[in-house]
Amino acid sequence: MHENIQTQKHSEFNAIPTGSGKFKPSRFAVAPMLDWTDRHCRYFHRLLSKEALLYTEMVTTGAIIHGKGDYLAYNEQENPLALQLGGSEPQALAQCAKIAQERGYDEINLNIGCPSDRVQNGRFGACLMGDAALVADCVKAMQDVVDIPVTIKTRIGIDEQDSYEFLCDFIDTVIENSDCDNFVIHARKAWLSGLSPKENREIPPLEYPRVYQLKKDFPQLTFSINGGIKSLEEAKQHLQYVDGVMIGREAYQNPSILAHVDRELFDQTAPVMNTINVVKALYPYIEQELSKGTYLGHITRHILGIFQGIPGARQWRRHLSENAHKPGSGIMVVEKALEMVTERM
Ligand SMILES: Cc1cc2nc3c(=O)[nH]c(=O)nc-3n(C[C@H](O)[C@H](O)[C@H](O)COP(=O)(O)O)c2cc1C
Repeated sequence: MHENIQTQKHSEFNAIPTGSGKFKPSRFAVAPMLDWTDRHCRYFHRLLSKEALLYTEMVTTGAIIHGKGDYLAYNEQENPLALQLGGSEPQALAQCAKIAQERGYDEINLNIGCPSDRVQNGRFGACLMGDAALVADCVKAMQDVVDIPVTIKTRIGIDEQDSYEFLCDFIDTVIENSDCDNFVIHARKAWLSGLSPKENREIPPLEYPRVYQLKKDFPQLTFSINGGIKSLEEAKQHLQYVDGVMIGREAYQNPSILAHVDRELFDQTAPVMNTINVVKALYPYIEQELSKGTYLGHITRHILGIFQGIPGARQWRRHLSENAHKPGSGIMVVEKALEMVTERM
């Protein structure tokens, strides 16, 4: 069955084998985070790690198809890059996946984890865990028109549907009715009412063993684990049981951990780049973006945490926070902030 689908996919739909060509299932990824992992953030993260798979924020099919802005814009330095889609209409998702492949994205990821009311009203995100057949239809519709991998990011359950059997049934239905073989599992169930998405990132407790068990029960599938992982040491522990690790908040708030990813998790031998030099390496990008009219604060808000734990970090943050938003602020604001760190090292 698998081979037939592949053959049909190439002959009937003439999918274009694009993507950046840099994709491989990743041992390490930075999580998709709405309002956080925008293109400026990803460019910065890519300076820190060549190997990490980066994800966009969730982009809805409605925004791509009907929106006025270019929601798929990115810099090719960001590859390997996965586009996370929010939606539940197979044809709309297929249309967006096709555009994304043509634009050079390396993976399409379907959001089956977001519990927000707005997303539920649109009938996508975590509530789709309750309709595995529809999820399979969505994935299949996308796989029919693209060659790049189509993956799923989901939770371990929703509301009262939180047994391990429910999770296995969800996976079973999806893999029986599509070619999906790559799942990111946020090891915490989603509450669809009563908790804000923020609260639902702390409660209820994480259940990592469920994700490890999935890998045992579906050894042919690729599983990445997500939720509450705060260090590369912890990541290495998880990698004894699963194929990949995805980190969200810690990577964003303390991005210097990304500087160690290539050596620690990918056996790369290049020396770890000094974080001051990483910031300096961002200057050409900042200059280029400023010349296009980007506001300095939209870039610098993502680099505030880079010196966490280093003397001068507070002054760095304060100088950027107080000055980057002022009209006409340029690279000198960053240079000045950086002096506050270097002077104390
Ligand atoms: C600000 C913020 C925005 C998020 N937006 C998304 C999103 O767009 N899509 C998604 O699948 N998950 C989203 N998440 C959830 C994260 O991808 C991740 O699953 C969650 O934060 C748990 O991982 P962590 O403990 O490493 O942060 C978001 C999380 C945060 C903090």
